[in-house]
Amino acid sequence: MPQNGSTQTIETLLKEKRTFKPSSQFQKNAHVPSFAKLQALSRAAAKSPEKFWADRAKDLLWMKPWKKTLVWKPPFAQWFVGGKINVSVNCLDRHLDGPRRNKAAIIWEGEPGDVRTLTYLQLHREVCRFANGLKALGVGSGDRVVIYMPLVPEAAVAMLACARIGATHSVVFGGFSTEALRDRINDAQAKAVITADGGWRKGAVVKLKDNVDAAVADCPSVQRVVVFKRTGNEVQWNAAKDVWWEDAVRGQSAVCPPAALDAEHPLFILYTSGSTGKPKGVVHSTGGYLTQVAMTCKWVFDLREDDTYWCTADIGWVTGHSYVVYGPLANGATTMMYEGGPLTPQPDRFWDMIERHRVTIFYTAPTAIRTFMRLGPEHPRRHDMSSLRLLGTVGEPINPEAWLWYHKNIGGGRCPIVDTWWQTETGAIMISPLPGATACKPGSATFPLPGISVAVVDKAGKEVPLGEGGYLVINKPWPSMLRTIYRDPERYKSQYFSQVPGVYFTGDGARRDKDGYFWVLGRVDDVINVAGHRLSTMEIESALVSHPAVAESAVVGRPDELKGQAITAFVTLQATQTPTPVLKDELCRHVAKAIGSIARPDEIRFTDALPKTRSGKIMRRLLREVAAGQGVKGDTTTLEDFSILTKLQSAEDE
Ligand code: PRX
Repeated sequence: MPQNGSTQTIETLLKEKRTFKPSSQFQKNAHVPSFAKLQALSRAAAKSPEKFWADRAKDLLWMKPWKKTLVWKPPFAQWFVGGKINVSVNCLDRHLDGPRRNKAAIIWEGEPGDVRTLTYLQLHREVCRFANGLKALGVGSGDRVVIYMPLVPEAAVAMLACARIGATHSVVFGGFSTEALRDRINDAQAKAVITADGGWRKGAVVKLKDNVDAAVADCPSVQRVVVFKRTGNEVQWNAAKDVWWEDAVRGQSAVCPPAALDAEHPLFILYTSGSTGKPKGVVHSTGGYLTQVAMTCKWVFDLREDDTYWCTADIGWVTGHSYVVYGPLANGATTMMYEGGPLTPQPDRFWDMIERHRVTIFYTAPTAIRTFMRLGPEHPRRHDMSSLRLLGTVGEPINPEAWLWYHKNIGGGRCPIVDTWWQTETGAIMISPLPGATACKPGSATFPLPGISVAVVDKAGKEVPLGEGGYLVINKPWPSMLRTIYRDPERYKSQYFSQVPGVYFTGDGARRDKDGYFWVLGRVDDVINVAGHRLSTMEIESALVSHPAVAESAVVGRPDELKGQAITAFVTLQATQTPTPVLKDELCRHVAKAIGSIARPDEIRFTDALPKTRSGKIMRRLLREVAAGQGVKGDTTTLEDFSILTKLQSAEDE
C-alpha cells in the first residue's frame, strides 16, 4: 500500500472515449462470438465458479479424476484435489493420435536466421529422450531444475521433460547476471542446471555457460550441469558435473512413461523481483495452472487449428511459460519462437518474420510497441502482414496512442487487440477482452474473464464508485493462482493477503468507468501525491506520449516542500525531434490541457533512453532516486543497460 496517501483512492483524469467493436467477420468463427454470450458465461461462472472451472478442467486429459474441485483455506488454495495429471501428456501425447501428429508444434527462428520446425511427433520424441536423460542423471520427481537457456526449442524441451518426470523447473532469464542466477539456484536448492554454451542476442554471443560456471561454484546443491551446444564458443569444462545435451540423450529411448502427478504438484517456480529484498519464488501448480492457461489461450487468442501464433516473450518470464509453451501446446497450436533481438539485424525483423511465416496472431509488450512507434511506420509498411488476424499486449498499461498506432500500422486497422492484464502470480490472463465479443477501448483491459472475480476497492476493502480509482483486488481463488512463495509462506500471506482484508491484493491501482470497463493504472507504488491529489503516473505518461514529438516517457514524484511531491517527467523524443526549452514548455502545456493543470510536470528531462528491466518495465524506483538527486542506492541487478543510469545522473546538472 502506498505510504504517501492522504486520501483513500487515486484520482483519475484520463478519459478515453473511442471504442472498437469486433467485426462481424471476426465474430462469425470466434469461440465466444458475442458480448451476450460472454455475459451469459460470466453470469453462470459467477453463480458457480467451481462448476465453471471443473468444466474447463474436463477439457484436459486426467490420469485420475479429482475428488474435490476446490479446497480453500484462506489464503491457501488447492484445486482439483485428488486428481492426477501430467502437463507434458496434455501438451504432446494427446495430439499424436489425430491430424496434429505431423503438425508444427514449434516454428523456431534463431537470430542469425536459422529456422527449425518441430512437429508434435518430433517434439514428443525429443521431450521423452531428454526426460530419460534427466532420469539417468539422477533427476526425479520433486527435484528442482534450473533452466538458463537462450530461446531455442530445447528450452521448451527441457521444461516439458521436467514436467514429464515431475521435476519442478525454475527458468532463469538468460539475460540475468551470475549473481541473480546464483541466488535463484540457491533459493530453489536446484539439483541440476540446464544451460547452453551461449545464445545470440543483438549480433553477439551471450556466454551463458561462463555465467553458470561462476554461479555454480557457490551452489552446493547442484550435482549436474547439462550444456546444449548452440553457438559453438569455447567453454570451460568441469568433468565432474558437466554433460553435453547430446551425450545426455544419446541412446535414450523415445518412450518415457509420464509421471502421474498430483494436481497440486509444483510444475514450476518462477522468481520475480520484489520492490525490496530478495526475489520471490512464485510457486505454480500443475492441474489448476494448466486448466486456466489452456482455457485463456484458447478464448483470448481465439485459437484455431490453422493459426501460426507468436508470443514474443522470452521463456524466462511467466508470459513465455504460459503463452509460448504451455498454453499453445495444450491447445495443439503452432507456436513461434524467436531467439534474438527485435531490431537485429534491422528494425523490421519482426515484420519480416510475420511476413515470411504468415503469422496470424501476434502478442507483444507495450514497451516494444512504443519502440516501434519511435522508429516509424515505414518499417512495418515494407512488409505484407495481411496474414495477421489478432493482436495482443501484456506487461504494462498500453497508452491509447500506442494502441492506436499498433491497431493501424501492425493490424492494418482490421485486427482486434486483446489487452491482457495478469501477473506472474496469477499464472494466466485474468482481465482481457475476448476478441469476438468485447468492444475495446484503447488503454483498457476491459472486463475480467468468466470465472474471475475482481474489484476496485479502497484500503478498507470497500468497492469504490464507478469512475473513481482504487486498488485492484481479486476476490476469489482462481485455478492458476500462485500457491505460495517458495519456502516462505509467511511472505506469501503478508505480501498478497494482508493489505486489504480478505482478498488478494494485486499491487495495482485501477478504476472502472461508467460502462464498467477496468482501467489498470499501474503499480500503486508508482502513484504520486501532488498537493493532496493522488495521481497515477501512467496517465501523465500517456498524456505526454500523445504529443507527436514524444516517443516514451516515465513520470516520477520527487520530494517538494510545498506540494509534498513534484512531478518529474523523463522524456524520450521521436528520432526526428531535437530537445529544446520551447518544447519543454509545450509539453507541460500539453499535459495540462490533456488531463488538467494539477498534472502539469514541474520538470521535464530529455533522455535518449529510459532505464528498463530486461522484461521492458521502466524502473521508476531508480528514476525516483535520480529525480530526488540522491544518486542511485537501490538494487540495479535487473537493469538491462547500466550506462543509461550514468547518463541520466550526469544530465542532472545540465
Ligand atoms: O502492473 C501490472 C502490469 O504488470 C504487472 C505484472 O507484472 P509481471 O508479474 O512481470 O507479469 C507480466 C506479464 C503477465 C501487473 O501487476 N501489467 C501486466 N499486464 C498489464 C499490466 N498493466 C496494465 N495492463 C496490462 N494489460
